[in-house]
Amino acid sequence: MRITSAEFSGSSTRVGQKPQRRLPEFAFIGRSNVGKSSLINMLTGNSKLAKTSQTPGKTQLVNHFLINDNWYLVDLPGYGYARLPDKDRARLRHIIWDYINHSDEMVMLMVLVDSRHPMQEVDLRFISELGEKGIPFGIIFTKADKQGPEALQRQVLENKGRLLEDWEELPPCFVSSSVSGEGKEEILNYIGTILNSI
Ligand code: GTP
Ligand code: MG
Repeated sequence: MRITSAEFSGSSTRVGQKPQRRLPEFAFIGRSNVGKSSLINMLTGNSKLAKTSQTPGKTQLVNHFLINDNWYLVDLPGYGYARLPDKDRARLRHIIWDYINHSDEMVMLMVLVDSRHPMQEVDLRFISELGEKGIPFGIIFTKADKQGPEALQRQVLENKGRLLEDWEELPPCFVSSSVSGEGKEEILNYIGTILNSI
């Protein structure tokens, strides 16, 4: 699938405030700084669409981006940023789960995981919460450019192995780099296939 247009449609903290058009939504979640906003920019070919930062905790709202006038990419705040005060962490958690639990248009949640590291407790806990709630999800291993191909493959395999300790089968998994564009075609084609089936 090709993206021919991508525009910011609005920010919200509660599902009732999200854009009114009822279109399929693909949302991106993961630890703060894992590269959610950067990946949305890479997929849309617009480096200025979603705001990114070297400092974790940049995205604080649910941001909808209208793609091809036909579906939404949704950028969510990150979870697991240890240095946030408790009340800020609770506020973000509320925003995230209000969206996940109540956005009827969300087709799938992509959970981004840093490809350089073993799956962290906070990721595994989040993913098992998705499982308990029956929320469809995929995994994207990000920042693939930050290590050589062998180290990358080793870590991704290890992480898939860790997932298989908890799950009978793997969810759809992708590897991405917002720097090199790796994963763009696979992720967009996957989304395109789902869109064609609904
Ligand atoms: P929050 O909004 O704070 O939750 O973070 P986020 O997950 O949206 O991360 P963001 O896209 O803002 O990126 C965080 C940092 O990682 C920025 O400095 C990006 O430039 C960098 N980054 C993101 N993706 C990649 C990637 O694929 N490769 C490399 N080398 N750097 C990346
Ligand atoms: Mg962000």
